[in-house]
Amino acid sequence: MLGVGIGRAREAIASHETLIVLARSTAEAGREARPDETMRLRQLARADAARYARSIGTDSPRTFRDRLSDSTHCYAVEEAGRILHASWVTTSCAWTRELRSFVCVGRGDAYVYESFTSADARGRGVYPSALREVCRALDERGVKQLWVAVEAHNEPSLRAVGKASFERAFELRYSRRLGRLALELPDAIKTDTPATGRPKKRRIWLSRDGAIHQGER
Ligand SMILES: CC(C)(COP(=O)(O)OP(=O)(O)OC[C@H]1O[C@@H](n2cnc3c(N)ncnc32)[C@H](O)[C@@H]1OP(=O)(O)O)[C@@H](O)C(=O)NCCC(=O)NCCS
Repeated sequence: MLGVGIGRAREAIASHETLIVLARSTAEAGREARPDETMRLRQLARADAARYARSIGTDSPRTFRDRLSDSTHCYAVEEAGRILHASWVTTSCAWTRELRSFVCVGRGDAYVYESFTSADARGRGVYPSALREVCRALDERGVKQLWVAVEAHNEPSLRAVGKASFERAFELRYSRRLGRLALELPDAIKTDTPATGRPKKRRIWLSRDGAIHQGER
């Protein structure tokens, strides 16, 4: 934990990062190979909170439950009753600490984030398989496109999303100097800050053509 604290302190002094944003259509997912029955993806429920907290460790049971909503779900791959992998998926917005902003998607799109495979299950293709299964589930719900954002230096994640047929759409660059965040966004990316509601934080809209505007949702 101390390491994390020092890392965050350094990050607050000066850092330059690139997020690679990728997307794929969900339409083909129904035709792609499926994992065997023992490794199927399952949408977690409030009752899974304690198991999630134990296996993944990033949330308490309470914060896990609080994050679930009609538009934000958590999916998991389990093996012998243990969670090997978890990914969050939203059809609205997800808070992204690095960007100090919500990352949002428009109608018909979804965004997958905070994906995590247990250290002892990595390299078995669990994440790409989970992503394909997420696409299949979203396709059945009428969602057409799934977005993901990966830090440019996260080679394992880039390899995994590549195997799951995601293609690069654009890059978001951000830098921080003495706590001040500077964002460098492509022209197509719109940002806004909701006039009402809480928290009043910047929203970054993922879109290929900038067609999403404030007030559309
Ligand atoms: C990124 C992550 C989710 C990938 O999950 P995964 O289920 O291991 O995915 P894959 O099995 O497809 O492995 C992806 C790549 O990880 C690397 N890898 C393989 N074995 C590994 C191991 N034992 N440990 C770490 N990385 C390994 C390989 O480069 C592999 O690609 P390759 O098979 O084409 O060589 C996982 O590494 C992880 O949880 N990392 C920490 C959290 C994170 O970075 N999340 C992603 C945020 S976008």
